[in-house]
Amino acid sequence: MKTRITELFGIQHPIIQGGMHYVGFAELAAAVSNAGGLGTITGLTQKSAADLANEIARCRDMTDKPFAVNLTFLPSLNTPDYPGYIKSIIDGGVKYVETAGRSPEQYMPLLKDAGIKVIHKCTSVRHALKAQAIGCDAVSVDGFECGGHPGEDDIPNMILLPRAADELEIPFVASGGMADARSLVAALALGAEGMNMGTRFIATQEAPVHENVKQAIVAASELDTRLVMRPLRNTERVLNNAAVERIIEKEKRLGADLQFKDIIDEVAGVYPRIMKEGEMEIGAWSCGMVAGLIHDIPTCQQLLDRIMSEADALIRQRLNAML
Ligand SMILES: Cc1cc2nc3c(=O)[nH]c(=O)nc-3n(C[C@H](O)[C@H](O)[C@H](O)COP(=O)(O)O)c2cc1C
Repeated sequence: MKTRITELFGIQHPIIQGGMHYVGFAELAAAVSNAGGLGTITGLTQKSAADLANEIARCRDMTDKPFAVNLTFLPSLNTPDYPGYIKSIIDGGVKYVETAGRSPEQYMPLLKDAGIKVIHKCTSVRHALKAQAIGCDAVSVDGFECGGHPGEDDIPNMILLPRAADELEIPFVASGGMADARSLVAALALGAEGMNMGTRFIATQEAPVHENVKQAIVAASELDTRLVMRPLRNTERVLNNAAVERIIEKEKRLGADLQFKDIIDEVAGVYPRIMKEGEMEIGAWSCGMVAGLIHDIPTCQQLLDRIMSEADALIRQRLNAML
């Protein structure tokens, strides 16, 4: 399949693996890229710019295909060494960066001078237009369904994607709720040029996370995610568990008085224990409603091959027969 996204990133299939904290290591990024998509290393999961340089080198050992690095710009007391991370990206010869969180405007000159293509992930049309205005090459439009941070507007992709298509000139991919050929064909019909998946890629053979995490996604239905941290305007969609129920109870009890310190035990620094050790109840971790569409743990190659062959059949047979 050829779209503006496959052309932009030099990939075979218009499918991107979004950055994921403590999931987006070199093993997964390389597996997605080797399967014909665009894999992504999550920059901030690496503790320093030197660690990121090492992770990029490991990924290069595992694939000769293009891959990206995610840089997430979050409100934080100790701002990460973004210029250092960007230097590791440039020195490592990485040509694609997925930015997310706050606007990447401040770092665009550094990235663009190095010839890097930037895809900014955002949850609203106004932020997508801003990304276009500051020189991003593409956007990843992340609907309310998504795992992780859906923003505060709560617009699902059935509305958000055609709205983005009406306004944007740069190409965009659909993100949030994407799992299979049906998602891809629907996304293309709504105006996107491909899709970005997070949760679906965690339940793959190559995702370097504990088996418990993969099984939790397979076992979950579309009813099992919750939104937390809305009172802090840092809404996150997570899989429900005992820690999430504690957060929700505190949010109800404290209302507008809730502060980050009230939920710090359930959200701060919990990812290594969940993703690496498989301690599934100790904290909140991002997961999309799309868990309800995930029933197996294929290799990335099997997943992408299945999506592309079923998309072909869907377009040529089911849709064409309706005309
Ligand atoms: C466990 C997990 C961790 C994530 N961490 C990040 C992150 O660090 N930075 C980021 O930009 N997006 C992050 N995301 C969002 C994904 O890149 C992607 O946009 C989202 O998962 C898409 O929705 P889906 O899960 O319905 O496919 C994360 C998602 C998950 C499920």
